[in-house]
Amino acid sequence: MKKVLITGALGQIGSELVARLRNDLGLNNVIATDVRQLENNPICEEGIFEKLDVKDYDKLKELAQKYQVDTIVHLAALLSATAEKNPKFAWDLNMTGLMNALEVAKELKLKFFAPSSIAAYGPDANPDNTPQDTVMHPTTMYGVTKVAGELLENYYYLKYGVDSRSVRFPGLISYKVEPGGGTTDYAVDIYYQAILTGKYECYIAQGTKMDMMYMDDAIEAVVKLMNADPERLIHRNSFNITAMSFAPEEVAASIKKYIPNFEMTYKVDPVRQAIAESWPNSIDDSCAKAEWDFSPQFDLDKMTQEMLTKLTKKFKAEGKI
Ligand code: SER
Repeated sequence: MKKVLITGALGQIGSELVARLRNDLGLNNVIATDVRQLENNPICEEGIFEKLDVKDYDKLKELAQKYQVDTIVHLAALLSATAEKNPKFAWDLNMTGLMNALEVAKELKLKFFAPSSIAAYGPDANPDNTPQDTVMHPTTMYGVTKVAGELLENYYYLKYGVDSRSVRFPGLISYKVEPGGGTTDYAVDIYYQAILTGKYECYIAQGTKMDMMYMDDAIEAVVKLMNADPERLIHRNSFNITAMSFAPEEVAASIKKYIPNFEMTYKVDPVRQAIAESWPNSIDDSCAKAEWDFSPQFDLDKMTQEMLTKLTKKFKAEGKI
């Protein structure tokens, strides 16, 4: 991975991956693309940025050729809650975008990464320590596109030799760019509200556990997997990875250690609650550990300290507190 084209670069993962790769590979070796272009945004202004709708195959191929990249990191997709509001559009965007990106990777012989998710599992998978290889019958459109995507990426590897690799991300927690339209977003929002208002109304019910990870560990995982020795990879699309599993009251308790007056109430959203209940409580990531040395650094309390410190600094700079 020496010269990379990234789709969905302005999203929660993209914005942090672009910054990391610009630092590691050099400004001219990262081509950030997104369907939106924002003014005064470091992703658009501090390196190469191109506007790209991933449904446009010709433009995607043209950009990959123009910059002579060796890798595509395809991040553009709708998340779970948004996808449930418009399932047909979610299928069109998630699958057409992925197919286009894989076709370009095949044509130009590029390495390939696209994330899957814990959403690829459905209610019939064992919810605790869910195995890497087991039944996958998701009941959300997002999950359907993720399982189909994993199969498609494996197909391109087996049939055309595309060096495709991927991980099933859990809920990702970060302070730079907010996630948009996921079920796990509460675990980001809670930190924002804890600092700004001292309280949070949670849309996920008490006792609902889901896997989570701090963004630094997620970015490190992508870099590590893409640089991993292919000889060691028994799996490819996709590896389970996780750093922690918690229910809303556990993250609230962690925040209370630093903000003792923090208060949480619940107003459960039936749509997102049903999605959460169809996903695992915790997944088994032993294959990622064995095959490419995945090793997350942040547990819940370490992440809470980091989120509260970084967000407080950000809100002060923005004049919000
Ligand atoms: N964080 C994602 C979501 O909630 C899961 O992949 O949709």
